[in-house]
Amino acid sequence: MEFKIKDVILSEDEIQKRIKELAKEISEEYKDDDPLFLPILNGSFMFASDLLRNIPYPVEVEFLKASSYLNQLKSTGKVNISNIKLDIEGRDVIIIEDILDTGRTLNYIVEFLKNQGAKSVKSVVLLDKPDGRVIDFNPDYTGFEIEDNFVVGYGTDYKQHGRNLPYIVSIEED
Ligand code: XMP
Ligand code: MG
Repeated sequence: MEFKIKDVILSEDEIQKRIKELAKEISEEYKDDDPLFLPILNGSFMFASDLLRNIPYPVEVEFLKASSYLNQLKSTGKVNISNIKLDIEGRDVIIIEDILDTGRTLNYIVEFLKNQGAKSVKSVVLLDKPDGRVIDFNPDYTGFEIEDNFVVGYGTDYKQHGRNLPYIVSIEED
């Protein structure tokens, strides 16, 4: 392991309980539509898999890989998107993202999807760090608001390590 755990800030049980609530809310809102769920890799793989398992009817899922260029563990707003052949013209898209911090990454992706012709674009984020916001961006569904500390686990990573943890920890920053 390349990092030192400070605290467990969200336990496995807390995460799973909140995800069930989010899935209920989202699935009720979209029950008469044919939404396209779009998890952003890598960070949201675990959240997306648990969230989508709790949607009680069949939906379509596609993946987008976005890498944001980080500067001292913060995104710089330069985002590289792959799978740009995705056909989302006229679709109601729901982006699934692990963390919203400065807002740059999600803002970029939402604009990109609108330019590609999406009918509507909403976002669900597991973690929101409102104190980190640089761009005015509000997610449509939020799992938890957390303090502006670097976190690892449940999809999120420190230098690509720790994504497998079923809970979320804060780490000692050096
Ligand atoms: P922005 O600042 O663009 O950031 O809203 C969102 C992206 O930055 C990454 N990020 C983190 N990743 N632990 C992580 O593992 C964190 O505490 C953290 N804060 C931001 C994340 O990849 C997200 O997609
Ligand atoms: Mg990410």
